[in-house]
Amino acid sequence: MKDQLTRYARAGYAGLFLCTSEEVRAEAEVKAAAESLGRPLHAWSLTTGFIDTTSGTVRDCPDLLTALEQVESIDDDCLVLLRDFGALLEDRDPLLVRKLLDTLHHAKSAGKMLLLLGVWKPLPAELEREITRLDLELPGPGILGMVLDHLLTSAGIGSPPPEIREVILRAAGGLTTVEAENAFALSLVETGSIQPSLVAREKARALKSGGLLEVIETKESLDSIGGLEALKAWLIQRSEAITQRARDYGLPIPKGMLVLGVPGTGKSLTAKATASVFGVPLLKLDAGRLFGGLVGQSEANVRSVIQTAEAISPCVLWIDEIEKGFGGVGGSGGSTDGGTSARVFGTMLNWLQDKTHPVFVVATANDVSKLPPEMLRKGRWDELWFVDLPDTRERTAIWDLVIEKYGRDKTAFDTVVLARASELHTGAEIEAAFVEALHRGFAEEREPTELDLGEVLNESVPLAVSMSESIERLRHWAKGRARHASAKETPPRRGRKLNLG
Ligand SMILES: Nc1ncnc2c1ncn2[C@@H]1O[C@H](COP(=O)(O)OP(=O)(O)O)[C@@H](O)[C@H]1O
Ligand SMILES: [Mg+2]
Repeated sequence: MKDQLTRYARAGYAGLFLCTSEEVRAEAEVKAAAESLGRPLHAWSLTTGFIDTTSGTVRDCPDLLTALEQVESIDDDCLVLLRDFGALLEDRDPLLVRKLLDTLHHAKSAGKMLLLLGVWKPLPAELEREITRLDLELPGPGILGMVLDHLLTSAGIGSPPPEIREVILRAAGGLTTVEAENAFALSLVETGSIQPSLVAREKARALKSGGLLEVIETKESLDSIGGLEALKAWLIQRSEAITQRARDYGLPIPKGMLVLGVPGTGKSLTAKATASVFGVPLLKLDAGRLFGGLVGQSEANVRSVIQTAEAISPCVLWIDEIEKGFGGVGGSGGSTDGGTSARVFGTMLNWLQDKTHPVFVVATANDVSKLPPEMLRKGRWDELWFVDLPDTRERTAIWDLVIEKYGRDKTAFDTVVLARASELHTGAEIEAAFVEALHRGFAEEREPTELDLGEVLNESVPLAVSMSESIERLRHWAKGRARHASAKETPPRRGRKLNLG
């Protein structure tokens, strides 16, 4: 950020809004920028008043309005750091807005730069164009490494070997410096050393308490999925595309995939398996909560999600049932929130398009009609997949997997017969049927039998029957637009037959 700051200062920007919750780190960057520019730095906060950081003189100054007045009387060409900015602008006091505008105009002509520090907030419209926002990125491995070393030194503990150190720093990626230091310290207290797994656990907790992102630990792999052969083959082929080696080779950063289809057919399962195939962490985004109640809040949310995912990258970002978050954007009656949903949606789409970090996005959806068409454009994603009801062969594979999942021997059942008996059933329904049969067996203190399964299947009405119309619509939509996840390999086209008579 320091370099950005110096560039802006040289270019004569009068107002920058440094958006971050990491005050200390941002201030260090500002200080470094002032030093490298050789310009004086004045800093103000509600509690300390106005400090000239060069001479150390302090002027009492209890509110932002007075502080802004003081700005006019200090040296030209200085940098002025104003803390507590977000909080003070909360109630959009017209007098304060006016004063800020006046001060910005003054600053521009006097070569001063106002640096407003606070967490991301929407600004009053009058200020939005006068003030440039700058996001402080989450700390990279370099800064986290400094935090780690500092803590180890003060605890009198030697550094871990380089390969362990790297794993620790990777586990801490996505945390702020304060959060990372806390996680390291906790690990020291609990285990006497710094354990990557413990740091990762603390990260999962920190992200979860933010409410939008969750680190998911999963054991699912491609072997847990029955059928979907085309999708699986594609994932294997792409498994290295997220690595540095792929960047060095010149491959573009992969965008990700959208998986559409019938509920219960293994879309979420596939998303989880993707992270295992790629060998990277899995982050789950709660799309429904992305649109936090408060206007403006959701814009801050989407930024923080993007920042965190980028800091953790390479990773898989899983957006489950994306229609719940983005559904209705731009649709009828979508304008009740002053366009916030549309803006958040736009930010997300732009990011999907122009990602500079290896974050592989896997979005799943059950209902295309609720998704805005921009989301469904093929170029947005590396691939758009359609998952249909499993065919007989796929159902056989799913029966095999489900029977083993519950610790039974698959050869004790004729899964080909079961597959025929479970026509129109999804993977989720096959699993539910097996669990029901287990209950029946357990109640009678015996193993479940094919007979139990036959009965259960006879009694259940698969979702596909009651939903046949919407499944048909989805199939129709997917034709020519999305790739069939279980499509068999198409035979190579025969060469053109020329008749050169
Ligand atoms: N193709 C499949 N192979 C193996 N298991 C499946 C398959 N499809 C569904 N299942 C089972 O059903 C459960 C629910 O599937 P899920 O992936 O959540 O469906 P979706 O996200 O498509 O609604 C899975 O956890 C798994 O146990
Ligand atoms: Mg699902």
